[in-house]
Amino acid sequence: MDQNVIISLDNIHKSFGSLDVLRGINLDVSKGESAVVMGGSGSGKSVLIKHIVGLIKADQGTIRVLDKQVEELGEDEMDELRLSIGYLFQSGALFDSMTVFENLMFFLDRHAELTSSEAKDRIVETLEWVSLPEKVGHYPAELSGGQKKRIALARAVILEPKIILYDEPTTGLDPVSVRMVSDLIVRLQEDRGITSVAITHDLLCAEIIADQVHFLHHGEILATGPLNEISQHDHPAIATFFGSETIQQN
Ligand SMILES: Nc1ncnc2c1ncn2[C@@H]1O[C@H](COP(=O)(O)OP(=O)(O)O)[C@@H](O)[C@H]1O
Ligand SMILES: [Mg+2]
Repeated sequence: MDQNVIISLDNIHKSFGSLDVLRGINLDVSKGESAVVMGGSGSGKSVLIKHIVGLIKADQGTIRVLDKQVEELGEDEMDELRLSIGYLFQSGALFDSMTVFENLMFFLDRHAELTSSEAKDRIVETLEWVSLPEKVGHYPAELSGGQKKRIALARAVILEPKIILYDEPTTGLDPVSVRMVSDLIVRLQEDRGITSVAITHDLLCAEIIADQVHFLHHGEILATGPLNEISQHDHPAIATFFGSETIQQN
């Protein structure tokens, strides 16, 4: 296998009852690359990236992440691998009853062995990085949608992962916030060499962050390439996807 490939999905199949969601997914992501998965609602994008962190187990196929074969790992080894993988969930990112500081501390406490002063420093540093140091004592309800996403991003990076998975990082945000979150994602890639897989149907976000776009349809990757190629692809499902996105944006 190519030495640079650090995430590799080989012929992944996944069904829920009679619903065949993934029907032979092949997907490689190289070190430092920003891969974007696009596709219609319900096409299996979230299911696909959950396989990478072992939150969903494949019925068939193999997954290699950072030189580990995911389906062969025991719980402890899986937990260890997860420390190298940040995950920005589509929803339910922050605990409403905890301040920003408490949310980040809760996460650090569970996953990292830092002294409390190291943990505090790390939190302050990370909040500065997302340009929200003044929100440290605020509750999620006091934040805008874009600010919540930036805090969730802070949580995804606070353990200094090698890989970050983003599930719809900008959905529902105004264009200024979309740009801000997308720019942070690019900085993680450029400044820290982080490899990422992002799901998005936000064209502006994809335009800013994507090296490669993988279009998911009927359980398979229909096409892979740079966004400008994929968006011009003549497969009807892809044309419809990009056509309707354009209409929605106007
Ligand atoms: N844990 C689950 N159990 C049963 N069905 C699921 C589960 N997770 C996802 N699905 C179904 O799989 C399909 C793909 O879901 P998902 O990956 O969330 O789509 P999306 O591309 O919008 O992220 C949907 O029909 C969804 O209802
Ligand atoms: Mg989803």
